[in-house]
Amino acid sequence: MCGIVAFTGTVDTIPVLLGGLRRLEYRGYDSAGVALQLPTEIKTIKRQGKVLQLHEAVDKAIAAGELGQMPTTGIGHTRWATHGIPNEANAHPHSDCTGEVAVVHNGIIENHAHLRAALSERGHRFFSQTDTEVIAHLIEEEYQATPGDLAQAVRTTVAQLSGSFALAICHAKHPGVLVVTRNDSPLVVGKAAYGVLAASDTPAIIEHTRRVYFLDDRDVAVLHQNGTIDFFDPAGTAYSPTAVTIEWDLEDAERGGYPDFMLKEIHEQPKVIKDTLAGRFDDKNHQILFEELALSAQEMSDVDRVIIVACGTSYHAGLIGKDLLEAWGRLPVEVAYASEFRYRNPLLTAQTLVIAISQSGETADTLEAVKLARRAGAHVLAITNVVGSRITMEANNVVFIKAHIEIAVAATKSFLAQVAQLTLLAAHIAQQRGEVDGRWVSELYEHMQELPAKIEELLTDTATAAIERCAAECAAAQTALFIGRGVGATTCYEGALKLKEISYLHAEAFAAGEIKHGPIALIDPEGLSDPRRQTPVIAVTCQSATYDKMLANIEEMQARGAKVIALATVGDERIAQLTPYVISIPKVRECLSPILASVPLQLFARFVALIRGANVDQPRNLAKSVTVE
Ligand code: AGP
Ligand code: GLU
Repeated sequence: MCGIVAFTGTVDTIPVLLGGLRRLEYRGYDSAGVALQLPTEIKTIKRQGKVLQLHEAVDKAIAAGELGQMPTTGIGHTRWATHGIPNEANAHPHSDCTGEVAVVHNGIIENHAHLRAALSERGHRFFSQTDTEVIAHLIEEEYQATPGDLAQAVRTTVAQLSGSFALAICHAKHPGVLVVTRNDSPLVVGKAAYGVLAASDTPAIIEHTRRVYFLDDRDVAVLHQNGTIDFFDPAGTAYSPTAVTIEWDLEDAERGGYPDFMLKEIHEQPKVIKDTLAGRFDDKNHQILFEELALSAQEMSDVDRVIIVACGTSYHAGLIGKDLLEAWGRLPVEVAYASEFRYRNPLLTAQTLVIAISQSGETADTLEAVKLARRAGAHVLAITNVVGSRITMEANNVVFIKAHIEIAVAATKSFLAQVAQLTLLAAHIAQQRGEVDGRWVSELYEHMQELPAKIEELLTDTATAAIERCAAECAAAQTALFIGRGVGATTCYEGALKLKEISYLHAEAFAAGEIKHGPIALIDPEGLSDPRRQTPVIAVTCQSATYDKMLANIEEMQARGAKVIALATVGDERIAQLTPYVISIPKVRECLSPILASVPLQLFARFVALIRGANVDQPRNLAKSVTVE
């Protein structure tokens, strides 16, 4: 789940490891550690808490002369505990009985209990409660069977493991050598001018290289201090992979003057939408282009059902995609939580198009849904943000969203990019199926081109100040309700997730018409006489066929003591008469309104989180990519 960085080369490994771990901090973690190769031993330093504390411990060890001359080979880790409480003993790296092996691991070893029992019976002593430690002891045994061949020992160890893992290993008897491998958990290897690196995520190494290699499941790579890398498939056969160049750079992985990544990423959204639109329209033939789709017009018209699978925010993007695909493409669309999909024997045929949406491309639930769909013969299209991610290897086709790296745990710009990409895709499919014509898509595309400027309007100081004022009105509440209709309701689902995820203020979203069927009971009637007891209700009321009904819903809520914050189209006088708390949204076609209305809801969540003293980039208990089921 968390972070790995490993380096061997001709320069000091400590800044490379600690710098890399710092760049992975955004993923959320509970402890950190490094193992450094000294001339005759492996020195492990770990700490519960932040990389800063680890850094201090390393500095102390340097000052005490414990690290001797500059170490040039080492591995580092930030842990997000799955087995064993977050403490120093359970922090990685883990070692074997001899102390010669050091291992860092991301993921979960599912058969760890069985392996641990067998290893204990064979006399191994364990020092932690983690699932990871069995790996170090297995390598110890396998190494005894093939002395001198660390890669082989790792390969035979890995053959005994089930579950997900990315591993980096060093051994006291192999100076200047690192062995890395993976299964169902990301790992990237890169070559720099002064050495070779491996990491669970590219930000950890982007400062040193943009030329990277992605390993397939259970492949093993051996990294040498002289800058060479040997790649082996699971059978031990050597191969030469193709290098991939990472398109984004260090600046993207830094805050660039913003107080937090979330705010930076919110402000990047106009550009993200521009990038998403670029090159998608053929103005000679009046067509939306999706060359990467690789489905002919015939195959597309054979599709009789679409299933969108995703989790969290990506699921919400899927809900918007469903509305558009059904409305424009006249195709039945189901949206499924990936975590539920594989356990319910879903209906899948060769005519089913499965669209799997995942920002990270590494979400375990979504990957399992993709595998199931492929096995059943469905065509799987992945929509992801991350080149080289697992989902790109599992799907039939991939459409990349143009969000560039997203660091804050809360998805913001990736959501807007997903929705914009799905809007274009729905229009493309509708056109291929003959449901809409060239004039219709040209008009849609023109409207979409106005979005970046309209998002800019939502990010001005004046607009932001209005949102902050509304956030201040709600920050002390126990619970907040979001209501909307149509795409407004979907916008609310995402708004409520954002709020609870980063501010820990309990929030629920409802289709406004459903309120009177139960949730209205949540409104505290004391709010009528005591403003402090008012329940905040965030109402997305952008102009649509259901506008009057939304106003009626708002009044119903107010009559029972709610404090209503309304997102409304700029200049909406009727709303202004109902509530003093209005956040204005530029006028836009209803189908595009989630792209605009989501932006103030992101800012609203961030302001509430700041007022409540929460860490907006690294919310508690959450990780940026959830690589375990
Ligand atoms: C979004 O703010 C959340 N952090 C989370 O719901 C996320 O969208 C979900 O885990 C899915 O991630 P993915 O898009 O990388 O698959
Ligand atoms: N399962 C391992 C542990 O609990 C690794 C967790 C991680 O991916 O950080 O230590």
